[in-house]
Amino acid sequence: MANTVSFAVRRTAPLVHNARFFSSGAVDIDHYASGWNSKDMVTSSGKYQIKTFNKISPKGLEKFPSELYEVKAEEWDSNNAHAILLRSHKLQESEIDVSVRAIARCGAGTNNVPVARMTEIGIPVFNTPGANANAVKELVLCGLLLGSRKIVDGVNHMKDLGSKGLAKERVEKDKAMFGGQEIRGKTLAVIGLGHIGASTARDAAALGMDITGYDPGLSIESALKLPRDIQLCDSISSAIASADYVSLNIPYIKGEGGTHGIIGSDVLGQLKPNAVVLNFARGELVDSEGMKGFLDNGGKYISDFPDDLVWEHENAILLPHLGASTEEAEDAAAAMAAETIREYIETGAIRNSVNFPNTSLPSRSETVVRISVVNKNIPGVLAKITETFAKENLNITQQINQSRGDVAYNVLDIEATSGSIDLKELQKGLTMTDGVLSSRVVFGTPGVGYARNIEGEYWV
Ligand SMILES: NC(=O)c1ccc[n+]([C@@H]2O[C@H](COP(=O)([O-])OP(=O)(O)OC[C@H]3O[C@@H](n4cnc5c(N)ncnc54)[C@H](O)[C@@H]3O)[C@@H](O)[C@H]2O)c1
Repeated sequence: MANTVSFAVRRTAPLVHNARFFSSGAVDIDHYASGWNSKDMVTSSGKYQIKTFNKISPKGLEKFPSELYEVKAEEWDSNNAHAILLRSHKLQESEIDVSVRAIARCGAGTNNVPVARMTEIGIPVFNTPGANANAVKELVLCGLLLGSRKIVDGVNHMKDLGSKGLAKERVEKDKAMFGGQEIRGKTLAVIGLGHIGASTARDAAALGMDITGYDPGLSIESALKLPRDIQLCDSISSAIASADYVSLNIPYIKGEGGTHGIIGSDVLGQLKPNAVVLNFARGELVDSEGMKGFLDNGGKYISDFPDDLVWEHENAILLPHLGASTEEAEDAAAAMAAETIREYIETGAIRNSVNFPNTSLPSRSETVVRISVVNKNIPGVLAKITETFAKENLNITQQINQSRGDVAYNVLDIEATSGSIDLKELQKGLTMTDGVLSSRVVFGTPGVGYARNIEGEYWV
């Protein structure tokens, strides 16, 4: 097989199985628990198997209830994981079992996961946007104070005095050297009103600041978090016109039309001479030469990133990328990753995927079987999928079809009041349809009910 993914298990013997309903509403599709080839035996413990790479926050993993899930670390020598959870581990295709239905990265970036390949073989990859937003926002608020009061200079001075045994004697006399200003009543311009920017705007307003903001791609979710009195502007220039502080909360995007060096001498030259620039987004957003000129003229720079030109400048305070470094942010990212995996596995809904379309689903009635189908986004496949249900004389009570790039995702609820559906034939027919990558009985016995079409071969 040309396929480079390590598919270790395959069931060959045909088994007869019909769907039966339990009072819980789950469908008994225990048809994959036996008949696996004995060499690569797949055990069905009746629970979903979650494989983790890296140390994942236990608080996050608590989101997987033990009566439904078994969570095992990477050393787990098995081949029937249903989902993978990881942080920075560079995931190899050979580590992805044939049974894997979803992969979640606890964090924002997914460049350690072979996303394009996963799209080709129909596996959604999830991330956790905004899970660290509170941690970063709190440090931005700290940055506002670092830029307003001579806190760092004061701390260093106290160490110096302490080392000389002079602290008590000099402290009251010397404090005049470290005067500052308050943030209440000052204007903060927030550039980028996403997860971090919107909550920074809200909390800075609560501290008595006037807020201006600029974000040409403002989402409804973020807009709802904004303070009522925010003044929304149509450019960086107009947002910073009256600013005492500027907080950068936009992504770094390389190349033409990107954000490399977006804060250069042209922008910095429009600021009040003693303004404070807070950069807890990315170092590359700020042009170092421009910043040096700004600092030389009395401006201040508080940043979470290194800068070879201004690190020693008396008006700069640089932190070692501490924004997301809190226990709570790690817990929140792991919890969000676990929740998105659970939602996908248990209901078929998709949110926060980097390669699959967002799909929100109505709840299922007890009298339907829910089946999901992943297919290549090419003409004609959808018609063939619905035809397969028609051939089995099944009534589709609701159907959702979403697509993104090369992949399409369908969720179909089928009426099953008779209590008996030949799932084997149905699923095989669906899965082996040209252009279909996989199918899944979503409401089934945990851990089973997944079938794949890999280059014309049927894997369950
Ligand atoms: N310091 C840290 O440790 C740390 C941690 C997490 C994130 N970050 C940085 O913070 C950034 C923001 O994070 P987030 O979670 O709020 O992201 P987000 O995607 O929720 O929000 C980014 C917002 O910026 C807007 N935007 C994009 N380009 C813009 C432009 N040119 N001008 C104005 N607005 C623009 C987008 O429309 C979006 O609303 C990230 O991209 C990342 O670089 C830093």
